[in-house]
Amino acid sequence: MSCIDDIEEPVVRYAPVGFLVREARQYWEREQAHALRRAVFCVEQGLFAGDDRDAIDDQAQLLVAMSCIGGMPDQVVGTVRIHSPAPGLWWGSRLAVHADFRSQGHLGATLIRLAVCMARAQGCRSFLAHVQAQNESLFRKLHWRSRERLDLHGRPHVEMEADLAAYPPCHDAVSGFVSRGRSAPCA
Ligand SMILES: CC(C)(COP(=O)(O)OP(=O)(O)OC[C@H]1O[C@@H](n2cnc3c(N)ncnc32)[C@H](O)[C@@H]1OP(=O)(O)O)[C@@H](O)C(=O)NCCC(=O)NCCS
Repeated sequence: MSCIDDIEEPVVRYAPVGFLVREARQYWEREQAHALRRAVFCVEQGLFAGDDRDAIDDQAQLLVAMSCIGGMPDQVVGTVRIHSPAPGLWWGSRLAVHADFRSQGHLGATLIRLAVCMARAQGCRSFLAHVQAQNESLFRKLHWRSRERLDLHGRPHVEMEADLAAYPPCHDAVSGFVSRGRSAPCA
């Protein structure tokens, strides 16, 4: 048996304990964010065939949540985009967290927080989203109110609006927010 045959998989793997949530800066961050969106909205949820990109992506600001190793961003595990179709009015959309990282580091909540705080720093007076109905209580917990129920892409959605008083302006979206993972080293 060669030495290589003796090498076993490590018995202890470490889950990331830190996440960086910020505006996407690098090409690989944008590419991984779009790949994650395809995995969630096309494959997992079947809302779109093949690709979920649309004309809004040409004007949107893209945010990413990244797991970190040794303090350095390693991979994109969450994303959302924001855009402003009219002065003062902002929309958030395509919020997605990788299935393996849900309910671990408040990544969805932190992406929502940065999205609204970034928009506020750019003159937002109203921040809206079409939220999938199963996520309405998550947004309510985060100080959003429901405005209208509607069907989009064949699924029930709720138009919701953020309470801007809960979201102070963030002028440094490139530094972003740090979120701590819930999990310790795991076997
Ligand atoms: C919805 C989604 C983005 C949430 O991301 P997440 O990282 O798991 O959420 P968080 O960990 O930040 O959640 C914050 C809190 O809300 C809870 N929560 C998460 N999803 C929830 C939901 N759908 N309803 C109620 N509570 C929810 C979490 O357990 C957590 O609770 P805690 O504060 O007691 O610990 C993620 O589940 C996802 O990507 N889903 C598939 C795509 C999707 O539905 N996108 C949104 C379209 S509107």
